[in-house]
Amino acid sequence: VPETAVPEGFDFSSPDLMAERVPLAEFAALRRTARPWWNAQPRGRTGFDDDGFWVVSKHAHIKEISRDGELYSAGANGAVIRFNESFGRDELDVQRENLLLHMDAPQHAKLRQIVSRGFTPRVVRGLRDALRERAERIVADALRRGGEGDFVSEIAAELPLQAIAELMGVPQRDRGRLFAWSNQMLGYDDPEYDANPACAAAEIIGYSMGLAERRRRCPAHDIVTRLVQADVDGRGLSDDEFGYFMILLSVAGNETTRNAITHGMVALLDHPEQWELYKVERPATAADEIVRWATPVTAFQRTAVRDTELGGVEIRAGDRVAMYYSSANFDEEVFEDPASFDITRSPNPHLGFGGTGAHYCLGASLARMEIGLMFDAIADQMPGITRVGEPRRLRSAWLNGVKELRVRYA
Ligand code: HEM
Repeated sequence: VPETAVPEGFDFSSPDLMAERVPLAEFAALRRTARPWWNAQPRGRTGFDDDGFWVVSKHAHIKEISRDGELYSAGANGAVIRFNESFGRDELDVQRENLLLHMDAPQHAKLRQIVSRGFTPRVVRGLRDALRERAERIVADALRRGGEGDFVSEIAAELPLQAIAELMGVPQRDRGRLFAWSNQMLGYDDPEYDANPACAAAEIIGYSMGLAERRRRCPAHDIVTRLVQADVDGRGLSDDEFGYFMILLSVAGNETTRNAITHGMVALLDHPEQWELYKVERPATAADEIVRWATPVTAFQRTAVRDTELGGVEIRAGDRVAMYYSSANFDEEVFEDPASFDITRSPNPHLGFGGTGAHYCLGASLARMEIGLMFDAIADQMPGITRVGEPRRLRSAWLNGVKELRVRYA
């Protein structure tokens, strides 16, 4: 065990790490030392297969890691898509090396170049009207049912699913099935369907392959067609790549955005002056402050491919480094008054979507748009919404998740 081990009582690999709260005070203590700390862990704990990993808490260090994909590999990384209560006991039946998030150059760049065509600012802007209408309908439906409800399932979960379906050109008639599978995969079960998370993931892959094949045979003016026909090094996405990409979107685009919306609602209601300001001015800066404040993805990992040094600490080839975005986003060296929730904060160089580098969130502008549209619809139709009790949190070491948030619609 290196001398720089995390102090007694800290175990960042425990799924209970965030069960009750985000350990902001503990992160602040680590940041004050300005160096990475070693977190030993019992072998075989879900999600981390090694003896331990480095806890990286400083904004500057996370930027350094994200920027250098050659030194810090995403490929050998094992800790995503697992050890999250919502995925149940089964590890998802997906092969991680097929996910963009776990690829290194040159494969990563090639695949990313193909799929990023589906996420250009123009494409995202083109979805705005359809998604605005969706957001308005989601809020109107909840309001019509009236009384008390669960904000997570009734409001926050729906738009991210619709956005992905719109984006990927999933026909309206198939959305019900796709949504049920996504929800099952993420542990938000729909009692109508009875499948475990691994089966649900396999269903999504199977469905997506069919969709890709259909578009290859009968091209249409949509993104699926563009993705399967794209010409990068003489090829587009294979059916298989398309299927895994849909899985990635379901995981990366769903739970993240729903938690941003849920935590955003809590933050706005807990800071009434900010909620009033939002209702009147709708600042464009609000979405980023909500992502900073919520930091839906607590941490992602990389693996050092050769010996190096970070913050004065020796990192050896093969060591894992975990980038704690939730710590970086409250780094006093970067943010003025980081503990205040300020929807007009600008600049806001938060790392909620990852550091600048090859893996920077592909859906960042879509996510910002979704968050803005959702709160616009709530501010317009449901300005008197209140929360009833505390959010019920997800047990996870890498997602800042909420399973249920009781609210009164008004
Ligand atoms: C990657 C966060 C929404 C698609 C990432 C990463 C983070 C992140 C932290 C990893 C960055 C890295 O490893 O350096 C978030 C948050 C979201 C959000 C907080 C919502 C508030 C979305 C949406 C989509 C999406 C809506 C798509 C519909 C992706 C994809 C990647 C990714 C495909 C992998 C990119 C790559 O490996 O090249 N996201 N994300 N995300 N995100 Fe997001």
